[in-house]
Amino acid sequence: MHNIILAHRILVSLFLLQYLVKFILLLTGKKEQLASYTKATRIVEILVSVGFLVTGGYLLMNTELTMLMIVKLACVFAAIPLAVVGFKKGNKALAGLSVVLILAAYGLAEVNKKQQGAVKVDTSATNDPIEKGKIVYQNASCIGCHGADGKLGMSGAKDLSITTLTIDEQKAIIKNGKSPMPGYKDLTDEQLNDLVQYIGGFRK
Ligand code: HEC
Repeated sequence: MHNIILAHRILVSLFLLQYLVKFILLLTGKKEQLASYTKATRIVEILVSVGFLVTGGYLLMNTELTMLMIVKLACVFAAIPLAVVGFKKGNKALAGLSVVLILAAYGLAEVNKKQQGAVKVDTSATNDPIEKGKIVYQNASCIGCHGADGKLGMSGAKDLSITTLTIDEQKAIIKNGKSPMPGYKDLTDEQLNDLVQYIGGFRK
């Protein structure tokens, strides 16, 4: 799973770079260089695009869909035909739009990553630490990957009902994250304690 995410990031970056180079050549009117660059990189481009779509498809099947991700996908799928037509016809506006859409999708992916980590949860409704832990667990999107019983395993999430980690090790992972799990730096020490107590209940 980690390797797939890493491969996807590298392929997306290459894809983006490829289009930026082409767009700059198009924008500066270097038609011949654009044609020879396109020809020279054709095979690489096909490999990168296919790899990028295949790894993306795989990740998509193993992750919960969020609104941001849907928008990101829409950008990618709108960008592809625009890029094909734009570069083929040498249309700067269309090609530019496709590059902007790809960049937007890239930016959204970054926002998505950051947003996941930041969660403020109100647990004042109860005094029971385990109940508080449950509220945090459900609101901090833990449930999306680990499931209500800790066993869901989305995005390669570890089964929490059979974890062999100590309380402190668990807290460290929750706080700092462990790719692809985001870090939850905003959680208070009390919330962390409540969380690990609640998770401890999955073992039974
Ligand atoms: C995006 C999916 C995702 C989310 C959201 C997520 N996790 Fe995880 N979690 C994972 C993955 C993947 C691992 C395994 C990381 C590794 O060891 O490679 C993991 C590992 C853990 C572990 C360590 C388990 C072990 O035995 O190694 C704990 C504890 C944990 N998560 C708790 C939480 C809590 C609590 C939350 C919410 C605050 C949460 N996770 C949110 C994906 C997620």
